[in-house]
Amino acid sequence: MIFKILTLFPDFFSSPLRTGLLGKAVESGIIEVSVTDIREHATDNYRSCDDYPYGGGSGMVLMAGPLGRALERIRGEHTRVVLTSPSGTLLTQDLVSELAGHRDLCIVCGRYEGVDQRVIDRYIDYEISIGDYVLSGGEYAALAIIDAVSRYIPGFMSNRESLAEESFVGGLLEYPHYTRPEDIFGMKVPDVLLGGNHKKISEWRQDESIEKTKRVRPDLYKKYLLRKISGE
Ligand code: ADE
Repeated sequence: MIFKILTLFPDFFSSPLRTGLLGKAVESGIIEVSVTDIREHATDNYRSCDDYPYGGGSGMVLMAGPLGRALERIRGEHTRVVLTSPSGTLLTQDLVSELAGHRDLCIVCGRYEGVDQRVIDRYIDYEISIGDYVLSGGEYAALAIIDAVSRYIPGFMSNRESLAEESFVGGLLEYPHYTRPEDIFGMKVPDVLLGGNHKKISEWRQDESIEKTKRVRPDLYKKYLLRKISGE
């Protein structure tokens, strides 16, 4: 899987791409990540990449020229281009799984008030938000996307099973986990998990998943019920 990041802040990515599972995946070649500074494609002496919005308003807009040239340079025949933006489609596990199918993703980190619409119309396949809140830059979102997508790449996670069981896959949040010791802070591990009856454990986990989803994510719970009713 190849990720090509376009950003005004290339240094942002140095530590995360060397750390944890992402760092290991880069080192072993399971994923390949390139980071390109959009500023390298500016043409004036100030290396300008942003300008005032036509029609007025606050903030600066990422110019079409430097970004367009950068995209022309790094885009290949099979590249899908993602723009991170608070006004994009909300990232879900389903969308992550779709992105993982492309194998060559360019992620443009949005900045300032926005990006010249003409670049979006011409080059962007997915405009993606990682949540209904505003970040100071799209770099945070780009990292979240890269991490979530990489987990679908064979060899990224040592335990592939956990991808199938975890939250959101199947539309429910994950059940609670416990590990040793059996008793701490006066709180005990639920008996069912100590009994070794796998059918009962599995039923308990399913019930807990449903209860938690109902409590903290009524929107997901509603979808779960609808799917159940329609027999999916
Ligand atoms: N840039 C600023 N806020 C963002 C968000 N919520 N998602 C993606 N990119 C962003």
